[in-house]
Amino acid sequence: MADSPFSLDNEAAYRRWRETKLNAYPTTAEALVVEIKDPRELTTAEVQAMVRVCRKTNMVVYASPLGGREDKALARVLGEQLGLHRLDSNMLADDDGITSLQVAAGKSQRGYIPYSNKRLLWHTDGYYNAPEARIRAFVLHCVSPAAEGGENRLLDHEIAYMLMRDADPDHVRALMEPDAMTIPANTESGEETRAASVGPVFSVDAAGNLQMRYTARTRSIEWKQDAATREAVRFLERLLAGESPYIFRHRMAAGEGLVCNNVLHNRTAFTGDVDKGIARLVYRARYYDRVCGTSLNEPSG
Ligand SMILES: [Fe+2]
Repeated sequence: MADSPFSLDNEAAYRRWRETKLNAYPTTAEALVVEIKDPRELTTAEVQAMVRVCRKTNMVVYASPLGGREDKALARVLGEQLGLHRLDSNMLADDDGITSLQVAAGKSQRGYIPYSNKRLLWHTDGYYNAPEARIRAFVLHCVSPAAEGGENRLLDHEIAYMLMRDADPDHVRALMEPDAMTIPANTESGEETRAASVGPVFSVDAAGNLQMRYTARTRSIEWKQDAATREAVRFLERLLAGESPYIFRHRMAAGEGLVCNNVLHNRTAFTGDVDKGIARLVYRARYYDRVCGTSLNEPSG
């Protein structure tokens, strides 16, 4: 951690990292898009193009001509070609570890928003997971978009870290505390189905990569009760609610998908059109791996 650019004690390394990070950083969501022919059979050039974008921004949007195709291999095999192998099987994922995100009455009535058409607040995936099950990357593959809405906003978590550190290093310090954010145990069914999750917002993993654990929800979350944490959280909330040039907006079209190192994201509400048979269907795969070739200490090329 000592020579990490994310260490608050290493200003020189941070400055170097920051300069590289901002050099040719994309300014539009279109710059994140890579055209591919088939997510299941990426060419070497397609992989290289995707990794190049993702290495800079921790995310890449692919656009394939396979809209409307209901085949989870589109997400799974695409991930494998990008070094994503270790799938996280949360309790609502299907048996193959890939979740079909669509409006499903039973699940959304139990309060699981991803299965409803309501908006999703800013978060990173798996913020309630145990430390050994940190989500480092996820894939979203859009089979069919909604009739209206369902747009994502995306913010590279390394940029969020940078903006906070630039504004006040104490914000970062507070959010790196091991007890900054607590998600109470899930006792929905009267039994504890998930233990309380206590941890930092920002952390650096063994490979030296920055990870972020965050949700903008205000219920079932306990922030550390001190002034520094409160101010840091307020800063982050304002950043996410504002119009930062670093916040990308993208609405996935059919056949498109997002591959990312678990960046901050939200989603607007959406509506289907029963008469026209339009219903949003998105596959989601979450991984303990990070996208290959995008680690801080990996040589580029
Ligand atoms: Fe998510």
